[in-house]
This record gives sequence, C-alpha cells and structure tokens, in this order.
Amino acid sequence: MKRHLISAADLTRDDAVLILDTAEEMARVADRPIKKLPTLRGRTVVNLFFEDSTRTRISFEAAEKRLSADVINFSAKGSSVSKGESLKDTAQTLEAMGVDAVVIRHPASGAPHRLAASGWIDAAVINAGDGTHQHPTQALLDAFTLRRRLVGRGDDGTETLGRDLAGQRVTVVGDILHSRVARSNVDLLHTLGARVTLVAPPTLLPVGVEHWPCEVSYDLDAVLPKSDAVMMLRVQRERMSAAFFPTEREYTRRYGLDANRMAKMPVHAIVMHPGPMVRGMEITAEVADSDRCTVVEQVTNGVSIRMAVLYLLLGGNEPATTPHPSGERPAATTESAEEK
Ligand code: NCD
Repeated sequence: MKRHLISAADLTRDDAVLILDTAEEMARVADRPIKKLPTLRGRTVVNLFFEDSTRTRISFEAAEKRLSADVINFSAKGSSVSKGESLKDTAQTLEAMGVDAVVIRHPASGAPHRLAASGWIDAAVINAGDGTHQHPTQALLDAFTLRRRLVGRGDDGTETLGRDLAGQRVTVVGDILHSRVARSNVDLLHTLGARVTLVAPPTLLPVGVEHWPCEVSYDLDAVLPKSDAVMMLRVQRERMSAAFFPTEREYTRRYGLDANRMAKMPVHAIVMHPGPMVRGMEITAEVADSDRCTVVEQVTNGVSIRMAVLYLLLGGNEPATTPHPSGERPAATTESAEEK
C-alpha cells in the first residue's frame, strides 16, 4: 500500500481487501466494553478541515481516539487561513509540531496531493474529500457496507460471491458532476469487481464520463429493478454557479427516490446515502427512515474504515486488535482518567 491515501484509484484490489478485512477487526472493538486500542499511542494526527463536514470529521476523530492517537483539530474558520495563510505555511507549522498523519478536507481538488507530493511535510496524508475530485474513505466505507449487507445474499440465496463485490450491481444517482463520492466509488467498486451504473440528468454528468469504468443511464425507473444497491447523492448547490435543471420539483420527479420507486428494487437491494441528505429532494423521509436505507450504518462503518486506514498507514507492526495482556489494566482506562 502507498504511504498516503489520496485517491481510491490508487488502491489495488489487494490493498482494498486488506483495508476492508482490517476494518472488520476494528468493528469488533466497538463491541467491547472499552472501545479503545493502544495501537497509535504517542502518535499525533491532525484533522485539517478547510471545508464543512459533520460525519467525516467526527468519524475520523472517533477513529483516531479509539486507536489512542493524540488528536489535533484544525478548522480554517478561526485560524490564520482566514487571514490569507497558504497551505504551504499551514503545512510547515504542522511539520514543526511533528505530526505523524494529516487528515485533510479542502475545497480545491488536488490539495491533498499537493500536500503529499510537496515535501513540505513528512506525515502520511489522508484525503477526507478534495473539491469534486476524491473521497477515498467514503468509497471504502460504502464498499464495507455493501460487502456486509450483500455478499452471500444473492437473489437465489446461494453464496456465489467472493470477498470482493464481484458482480454486484450498484446504481449511483444524482449530482455526479460535483460528486467526489461518485468518482471514488466508481474507481473502488470497479477495482472490487462490481458493476456500476450512473443515473443523472445529462447536465449533471461530467465531460468524459463515457471513459469511466461504468454504465450511464438517464432512466432511473429502468435501472432500479437491476440494482443490488442504489446510492442517492445530494445536489451540491454550493459547487454550482448555474442552473443545472429546471426546478427542484422536476428533479425530484425524475431522479428522487420515493417509496413507489423503492418498491421497484429487488427485495434484497439496499438504499445508500453518504449524507447529508436533503429529505424531500433526492430522497423522501419515508425511504430515508426505512430499514432498507443504510445511511446510519454507513456512519458507524466509517469509524471502522478510518481506524483501519490509520492503522495501516501509520504502520502498526503488531496485530491490530491484540487484546491487553490478562490482568493488566487497559491503557484506555488510565488515559481517559488523565483526560478528565
Ligand atoms: C459528502 C461529501 O462531503 O463529499 N458527504 C460526506 O462526506 N459524507 C457528500 C455531500 O456533501 O453531499
């Protein structure tokens, strides 16, 4: 595996499967009374967020804390960035503090790559979403959710699937043009052998999409019966400078998922959403709250995936989830007492 995680396209099938398998081990930690491992004790991780985030940011922080790392949170608002400080100066400040990993979200596509390739910083760089480019840990947590929900539960009930997602049909619906989640998912799902179909109005599809390793359709109703999972995306108004569709009502009518449409999906098929959802726009409240919708599960899985990525990138030599030697007081108990 590479030293940084910038793009889902950088992951080989073996890398991806290793992360997913490690995340399974990490998920088991969540069932323990003390949800903490000593793995990253003494290592410092900085969360560098230049763009709004709820789920991704909280989930990285939870993952870092569960691995006992020292965590520094930095948001552009209220920092010297709002005074015009460059990414280079910010990076050099972090380097001076001796950080081991930087988790970065940035509105500019390519910012994490710049940080990793610049030599400004020695730390491992993890992309937590850059512009419309990539969001690799989101794709990994989506693949993890798909694997847990679908593998071994095909239409005919037989376990024909391997440890990857071979043959699974995943439909991604909505604002593909502005979505780093869509780009990362197409890359990773293709690597894992899934068949991806994108559904969007022509104006919300990027130029060159015909060269992506997926199918494209404009007809949601036709694709739904042939989907094992349907991933709904938010319309990213903050990245739009023009009108991409006539009205919200028209968008919802053609590309929104309501209960009637969901009924067209095979019985085993799931509904996914990276969040934040705009209820009433791309998804109705009824679908969002149904037990076929995995949005909350995706958030839970995000913590396990981010623990796995941090563990693998920061090069833990010992097995990820070695139990504490019997009798020894778990480090986590001492630490949480100190923190108070
Ligand atoms: C997405 C993002 O920020 O790229 N959300 C997320 O990370 N869970 C998608 C979105 O903002 O719509």
